[in-house]
Amino acid sequence: MTKNTKKPWQGRFSGETDKFVESFTSSIAFDNRLYEYDIQGSVAHSKMLNSIGILSDIELKEILTALEKVKEKIESGKVSWRDSLEDIHMHIEHELIEMIGDTAKKIHTGRSRNDQVATDIRLYVRNEIINVHENIVVLQKTLIKLAEKYSKSIIPGFTHLQVAQPVTFGFIMMAWFFMLERDKSRFIDSYKRVNISPLGAGALSGSSHKLDREYVAKLLDFDGITSNSLDSVSDRDFIIEFISNSSLLMSHLSRFSEEIIIWASTMYNFVDLDDKVCTGSSIMPQKKNPDVLELIRGKTGTVYGQLMNILTIMKAQPFAYNRDNQEDKPALFNCVDTVMISVQAMNICLENLKLNEKVAKFSAKKGYSTATDFADYLVKKEIPFRDAHEIVGKVVAHAVSKKQDLDELSIEDFKSVSSVIEEDIFDFLNIEGSVRSKKTSGGTSYEEVNKQIEKAKNIIKEYEKN
Ligand code: ARG
Repeated sequence: MTKNTKKPWQGRFSGETDKFVESFTSSIAFDNRLYEYDIQGSVAHSKMLNSIGILSDIELKEILTALEKVKEKIESGKVSWRDSLEDIHMHIEHELIEMIGDTAKKIHTGRSRNDQVATDIRLYVRNEIINVHENIVVLQKTLIKLAEKYSKSIIPGFTHLQVAQPVTFGFIMMAWFFMLERDKSRFIDSYKRVNISPLGAGALSGSSHKLDREYVAKLLDFDGITSNSLDSVSDRDFIIEFISNSSLLMSHLSRFSEEIIIWASTMYNFVDLDDKVCTGSSIMPQKKNPDVLELIRGKTGTVYGQLMNILTIMKAQPFAYNRDNQEDKPALFNCVDTVMISVQAMNICLENLKLNEKVAKFSAKKGYSTATDFADYLVKKEIPFRDAHEIVGKVVAHAVSKKQDLDELSIEDFKSVSSVIEEDIFDFLNIEGSVRSKKTSGGTSYEEVNKQIEKAKNIIKEYEKN
């Protein structure tokens, strides 16, 4: 990256740029990934310049053909990136000038790198919104499969990491599905704010050429144009939004990871993770570690870090464009890369997850998990809930002292605390009975979980239609 090249902004300068400064200010090492979007933007801008008479038909043709060639040259690795040409915008313009000379020099008419880069990132982000969305859908489909496979398998539901009430594994998978559904909807909602064209804003105040901004927007498939040029070149809130949405998604993935890690631990042993997704220890021969899930949990920190990064980059910048903004790209790219691989990694883990149904069911019985059902039973016998709570508390204490589960107590044990209790109590104390007894929509009963699965399937079907 040492060869010096004439810079487009050289005119005002008589001295050469310091080599260290050149490399310090250069962004080509990372923004070269925007080349395709930069070329798309240049194609649209050139067509528009032609439509308003700034480029002739012949010049336009020449430029378009050259842009195509630049693209091929970049893709075949034949363009050498140099710090002296700063960024992807200047590299592409330079290549163009090398190829077709003076005609290429007209392409930047009415355009600044400030609106150019804003356009490139908007094109990039909108594409990544679709990508992340597609990745989430794959993960959601895996959750549906697991929910169907284990729709009747019982596992303890926890609060405070203490056994709370029995639930089905399908119920938990559906909880995760709907969390991801909200993540998806946040990304999709942000799309309309991203998909607006800033091109034509110029450096900050617009252009004295009568640029047809609407036409450019149409060519680039934007939904419209930004309303204020100053805002167009200085705003990066759509990146903040993307990273923020990614952070929420990662927080969900991190919680799923944590849950599975706990389930997979020797003491719980609710699930088996396939060898495919585990690694071993270099010293302890017996170890099979859930490293993939731990890394997803760890990478959540990376994405949160990028959120802080971009928020801080934007804080207190004077209007309009400042070079600080160049730092938006490492933050954004790192976020995109981390999120995509994390969603995919979670999918591989879930695809290879096996529930140890017996262990999970056995554990669901522990910790007096049907005590609430017992209290509800008493309420149905017209005992006020607070009194029922008290009675059940006493029975639990009694069972604890006898080291027995609730359903191991005798009918006499029950009757000694309340005479309304009859033999049918045992239907309420077993965990299947508890799951079945849930009547509310959204609950864990088999019926309700099936409804949730149906709803989830319809969501995916709708998505796949479009
Ligand atoms: N590489 C710059 C960035 O990423 C492009 C815009 C430069 N504009 C300028 N006025 N120096 O933000």
